[in-house]
Amino acid sequence: MAQVGATETRWSSRLTFILAATGSAVGLGNIWKFPYEVGQNGGGAFVLVYLACVLLVGLPLMMGEIFVGRKGRRNPADSYGELAKAAGRTPAWRLIGSMGIVTGILILSFYSVVAGWAMAYIPDIAGGMLDGATAESVGKHLEGLWADSDRMMFWHSAFLIITVAIVALGIKGGLERAVKYLMPALAVMMLMLLVYGAVAGDFVAALKFLFTPDFSALTPQSILSAVGLAFFSLSLGMGAVLMYGAYLPEAASIPRVAAAVVLADTAIALIAGLVIFPIVFAEQLPAAGGPGLVFKTLPLAFAAMPYGSVLGLVFMLLLVVAAITSAISLLEPVVSWSEQRLKLPRWLAALAWGGLIWALGLLSLWSMNDWGEVYPLAALDFAPCLSESFCAQRGWAEALGVARLTWFGLLDGLTSNVLLPLGGLMLSIFVGRLLDHYVVSEELGMSGILYALWNVLVRYVARIAIILVFLNAVGILGYVLGLFGVDW
Ligand code: PHE
Repeated sequence: MAQVGATETRWSSRLTFILAATGSAVGLGNIWKFPYEVGQNGGGAFVLVYLACVLLVGLPLMMGEIFVGRKGRRNPADSYGELAKAAGRTPAWRLIGSMGIVTGILILSFYSVVAGWAMAYIPDIAGGMLDGATAESVGKHLEGLWADSDRMMFWHSAFLIITVAIVALGIKGGLERAVKYLMPALAVMMLMLLVYGAVAGDFVAALKFLFTPDFSALTPQSILSAVGLAFFSLSLGMGAVLMYGAYLPEAASIPRVAAAVVLADTAIALIAGLVIFPIVFAEQLPAAGGPGLVFKTLPLAFAAMPYGSVLGLVFMLLLVVAAITSAISLLEPVVSWSEQRLKLPRWLAALAWGGLIWALGLLSLWSMNDWGEVYPLAALDFAPCLSESFCAQRGWAEALGVARLTWFGLLDGLTSNVLLPLGGLMLSIFVGRLLDHYVVSEELGMSGILYALWNVLVRYVARIAIILVFLNAVGILGYVLGLFGVDW
């Protein structure tokens, strides 16, 4: 097999890596997904599980993923492969990297559709959509967009063309500059909205909703969603962070850069929640409003503000930029792999994969209208039920909570709640158990108690937590505990 060379590209500094990785992490996951999933899953308890997961699983694994990238200096599949070989392990570990590459493709397909909604709002706001806007008019507006496949397709295409163009040109030049100015600008706008929400919205209700945990609202599936959301929001488990780690200069401290990225990402998600829920409660909108929540609430805030149209425009622009910097990191692994393995020119790889992702995106796009009642997993109900208590009366699809998933819901759930945590689980075994401690601790620049703590978190806490959450979600854990008389 041809030897695949390590990449020579490096970020110009540690700060650039932090900005790029933060650019990857901060995106629709924070501003679109976090608030709507918190709303759907009952608030405080979900937020608490999310935060615990970010701290105990996300941060340690982020360090592990950067480590694999910087040590491997290649695309995810080959980085895993090289490190496994060097440690005398089976080269089949590269499959974990390959799985991540595929996951990135799947995520980008629906990510681009949602980013397209934000893009569509830019001309709409410029055209006076916010004048005299009410909760009802904004809701109608969004539904109008969702009913219009052509318009969504236009913006889905536009978003992918920009992403492909940036990746084709090589991510270093454009990305470094974009992230340096635009990410802080987004943060400032979020803070401004936060002040607005605190003054004009029902801030107390929002605080209560987000930070008083009601554990009865948690179900096995919602716990899995919190874990999946943490992976999604931190860009973990598919090799995006690994890929950026491959460009990280030798001298940078991995724990420090990882902590910076996790902190920034979590702060932005919490602020997004604190911006959106005061408006939700003040307008008496349903908290469990689903994927449209952000697109229905923020326009209302802007409509009520002085210079609201200008601010709304700027905000949507920044949101699109944040989505672009995430999308780039979803596309980069497969493009880097095609360059290194298939020896394709970068531009061709970006274009070809972009085309495939575009077509795949149509599944999600049509889920908003024509295929709104196509439920690909409903067929699971025909599978024989092995556990009486679990699926006798309701069937598998219903029991697993996937009976009413559209293609969009399926792609989203499969990637966030299955593939990313699975990638994280394998990563935790790989870096926590299989590699030589000496090599890992030296590359991480940690020794003694700190390294031991990291190792315990990765090796036991992350691994066991992910396994339990998986078993819990498919009902196996409850079944086994039931055998011991424990009611779960
Ligand atoms: N973290 C990104 C966001 O929050 C999405 C993403 C997921 C990017 C996985 C890369 C990998 O928008």
